[in-house]
Amino acid sequence: MLVVFNILYSSLVYTIGTDNTKGESFYTENAKRGQLLYQKYNCTACHQLYGLGGYMGPDLTNVMAKGEPYTKVFLQYGTQRMPNFHMQEDEINSLIAFLKYADKTGTSPIKHFDVNRDGTITPK
Ligand code: HEC
Repeated sequence: MLVVFNILYSSLVYTIGTDNTKGESFYTENAKRGQLLYQKYNCTACHQLYGLGGYMGPDLTNVMAKGEPYTKVFLQYGTQRMPNFHMQEDEINSLIAFLKYADKTGTSPIKHFDVNRDGTITPK
């Protein structure tokens, strides 16, 4: 019996459990470039993505929901607390593409959610 459950469970984990089609189309070449720039400029030192990272600045997972022009201003000029990286226009566009991908693939921080029968959660 245990063997049967094990096979069933494993097959579910590796099919439904790893289904990652949501937001996949947003992982473009430009977004991949943006991801590398996110690492290069070490944005993660001050910002979280999907809830992980530094805490000097806000979580950026869903920052694109505030609009592209809003996000762009921070990348172009910085603020008193965030450095101006003097990035090229195409670098900013790649970072924007990466942040769009993050917005489509995650919600953070999760304030309201349903607990599913399998113990996972679905953000409301
Ligand atoms: C030295 C720390 C630091 C680094 C490094 C940094 N930021 Fe920031 N960032 C901040 C702070 C702090 C704020 C909040 C604005 C303020 O208080 O001045 C901010 C704000 C932002 C915002 C607006 C967020 C919102 O919800 O209002 C965006 C977008 C952003 N940063 C993107 C980036 C990206 C992309 C990088 C990497 C290229 C980066 N930041 C690197 C400190 C940093």
